[in-house]
Amino acid sequence: MTAKLIDARNLKKSFGDFVAVDKIDLTVNRGEVVGFLGPNGAGKSTTMKMLTGFLEPDSGKILINNIDLKSHPLPAKQLIGYLPEGAPSYSDMIVSDFLSFVGKMRGISDKILLKNRLEEMANQINLKDVWDSPIETLSKGFKRRVGIAQALIHDPDILILDEPTDGLDPNQKHEMRNLIKNISKNKGIVISTHILEEVEAVCSRAIIIANGKLLANEKPNNLGNNLENKNVLCVIVSSKLNSLISKKIKADLNYKNIEIKSENISSAKILIEGDEKNLDLNKILTKLKKHKLNVVEAFFIKPGLDEIFRKITQSK
Ligand SMILES: Nc1ncnc2c1ncn2[C@@H]1O[C@H](COP(=O)(O)OP(=O)(O)OP(=O)(O)O)[C@@H](O)[C@H]1O
Ligand SMILES: [Mg+2]
Repeated sequence: MTAKLIDARNLKKSFGDFVAVDKIDLTVNRGEVVGFLGPNGAGKSTTMKMLTGFLEPDSGKILINNIDLKSHPLPAKQLIGYLPEGAPSYSDMIVSDFLSFVGKMRGISDKILLKNRLEEMANQINLKDVWDSPIETLSKGFKRRVGIAQALIHDPDILILDEPTDGLDPNQKHEMRNLIKNISKNKGIVISTHILEEVEAVCSRAIIIANGKLLANEKPNNLGNNLENKNVLCVIVSSKLNSLISKKIKADLNYKNIEIKSENISSAKILIEGDEKNLDLNKILTKLKKHKLNVVEAFFIKPGLDEIFRKITQSK
């Protein structure tokens, strides 16, 4: 069996008395893009710094492709590309010089290979326009792109990208997501983000943390499956509902929010939102029957990722 690209167990990090990361386990296989989600201050960047060897955990163990990061930091780090939060350092350097410098530091000693990689970065990450400019004169989005190029320059197996699309314009965000998807086949990638649609668009797995604790670790589609999400019910009835009947039904059901829409001549959709966690399906269906409605279908509506995120991170 091939080793996991990242296998981190029981990671813990405190700053003084404050526990920033509390016993987090995280594994990443080749081909996976793991989305790291959590409110501000959740511990995402701190965890990423530990995974990349920038910050030593108080306890726990990190294996990078089966290499212990603590005892063998150099070979382990060589497999990782890391985009930290914020702008790249060495801000007075010219973009091309900076990337060339990072490439050499990352062990690309062959001049032709380095030249090819630099060209690839310039094209792939749209850096041509700023190629000869000092980093400090670049806009926020371009600085971010330079950061991504330096993470990718040595074509590492593992990418740890801390908010890779932060500060990019919508076109660039789109391109960045495509880039991540395209290169993910043979790599293991971890991205942190506050943009939930990004997780749905590029991630094969989503990890949610809050207050340093892991709260969820699943396929984006499955997030929230284990939450009590039964407070929005959709009922389809094969009856035509005029405004008088609709009014009566609304008054009788008496929930926070009820919408009744005609679907076509002979069917209507009733959307019921309650205050309580779980709507009482039987009670609602019994009431609808009293109005002589023929119920064809009734299902609870799964909330969007935004709502799931709020529920998961605020409920514990
Ligand atoms: N060097 C440090 N010294 C003291 N506290 C720190 C340090 N680094 C991080 N923290 C604290 O640890 C917590 C987690 O911070 P972290 O940067 O990991 O959060 P985050 O999930 O990346 O948040 P954001 O979404 O805002 O980037 C925060 O409360 C932060 O203030
Ligand atoms: Mg952060």
